[in-house]
Amino acid sequence: MTTLTYLGHSAFLLEDDGKSVVIDPFLTGNPNASHQPEQLNPQTILLTHAHNDHVGDTVDIAKRAGAKVIATFELGTWLGEQGIEDAVAANHGGTVAFDGGTVKLTQAWHTSSYEDGSGVVAPGVPAGLVVRFGGKTIYFAGDTCLFSDMRLIGEEELDVAVLPIGDHFTMGPDDAVRAVEFLNPKTVIPCHYNTFPEIKQDRNDFKRKVEERTSARCEALEPGARLEL
Ligand code: NI
Ligand code: MN
Repeated sequence: MTTLTYLGHSAFLLEDDGKSVVIDPFLTGNPNASHQPEQLNPQTILLTHAHNDHVGDTVDIAKRAGAKVIATFELGTWLGEQGIEDAVAANHGGTVAFDGGTVKLTQAWHTSSYEDGSGVVAPGVPAGLVVRFGGKTIYFAGDTCLFSDMRLIGEEELDVAVLPIGDHFTMGPDDAVRAVEFLNPKTVIPCHYNTFPEIKQDRNDFKRKVEERTSARCEALEPGARLEL
C-alpha cells in the first residue's frame, strides 16, 4: 500500500513497502509542520528548488539517515559540498532512479535561491517533479505559476497532482483549478498555503471549485493527514 502524508507547507512523505521518500522537508521554523525532522528516516529526499521553505531540514535529515538527495544541478552540487554523500545534481527533462522509484524533473516558473546568514549561497533553477513510486505517478508542481505546458505533464497519466494554491509567491486557487484542467489527474492535493499571512487560503473552497469544474477528486489534507493512494 502506497501512502502520502502531508507534513505541512510543501513537505510530503511517500511510503511503500518499507521505502520512504520525503519531498521539500521544511519542518524547523514551519508553524504548520506536523513532524519533527528526527521522526523522518527516508532513503530519498527530492527537492523542487533552493528556497529555504523547501530545502528546510534536508542537510540534517540526509546526513543522519544516509539519504540520497535529488535536485536541480546547482542545488544538488551545493548539497554535495555540505557533506551529503549521495547528492544528485540533475536537470529538467532528466529522469533519476532512487530506491523504489524514479523522478523526472520538469519545468516550473519561479525563482530559486538558498540564503544563510551571509546571503544567497545556493542558486539554480526551480523544477517540478514527476515521481513514479509504489505503482503510482505523482506530480509535485513545486512553486510555480500556471503554464500551458502543464498539458504535456498531463500526458504522463497522473494519479495525483500536488499543486500550490497560496497565491502571492505561486499560483493562487483559481489558476490552480485551471492547472487541474491541464493536468487531468485523478486526485488533487493543495499545498503551499496558510503557512504565512501572505498565503492564507480556504482549502475547502478550493476543493469545492476543483470538484465543480473538473472531474478530479480533491483531498484537502490537514498537516499530518495520511492518504492511501
Ligand atoms: Ni519558492
Ligand atoms: Mn515556497
